[in-house]
Amino acid sequence: MKYVIGNWKSNQNLTESLIWLENMISLAPRIPLDMQVILCLPFTDIASFNQKLSETNYPIFTGAQNVSHLAPGKHTGEINSHMLRELVNYCLVGHSERRRDFDETCDDVAQKAKSLLENSITPIVCIDLPYLDQQMKSLFNYDVDVSRCFFVYEPLAAIGTGKPVNPTDANHVAHQIDFLIDGNTPILYGGSVTSDNSLSFVSQNQIDGLLVGTDSLEPTLFAAIINSLK
Ligand code: PGA
Repeated sequence: MKYVIGNWKSNQNLTESLIWLENMISLAPRIPLDMQVILCLPFTDIASFNQKLSETNYPIFTGAQNVSHLAPGKHTGEINSHMLRELVNYCLVGHSERRRDFDETCDDVAQKAKSLLENSITPIVCIDLPYLDQQMKSLFNYDVDVSRCFFVYEPLAAIGTGKPVNPTDANHVAHQIDFLIDGNTPILYGGSVTSDNSLSFVSQNQIDGLLVGTDSLEPTLFAAIINSLK
């Protein structure tokens, strides 16, 4: 199975998200059976987007981009895993933008992953080399079942810069992650993925798919990535 995950970040309001979906359905009406497409949307778009997906039978999955590390309770403004479980199958955790801009720690990420798994949501754990070992340690300390997580190698310098890393180097890091988790879980690459370089990553033996930021916002570009992997 190949995975293509879109991450809209803090973009697209509800109206824009539904227009995106209409365009996407006409540009990529069929998703190959050996491919899973997951779109990580802003919280505000998810419920209506899901509704539209079920009306149109379009076979993509939805995910969130973040979740609270806290359990339900007196935490004004927090969206927790219990709330998300009715909405999504997946959730990104530990994206480097959250580590950089919101001081998220490896322990926070581990707690989030744990609460997601307790609510039957698959955590998509984002990792860069400087904290690869620390993140793995935290996941094990918090008893997170890593065999039920997805992992993404996303080097900060490659995110949103138009400068992806060399696919062979990404494959090498994916092997390192695979060695640490010792399992069969999907390992993806993220950072300046386009339809021009998508296949060069996915054809590596340890890379199971892609996390796409910028090029997931524009249906023509996102559909081109999906079509490039057919
Ligand atoms: P990008 O974002 O595709 O814009 O580089 C990737 C990511 O956020 O992981």
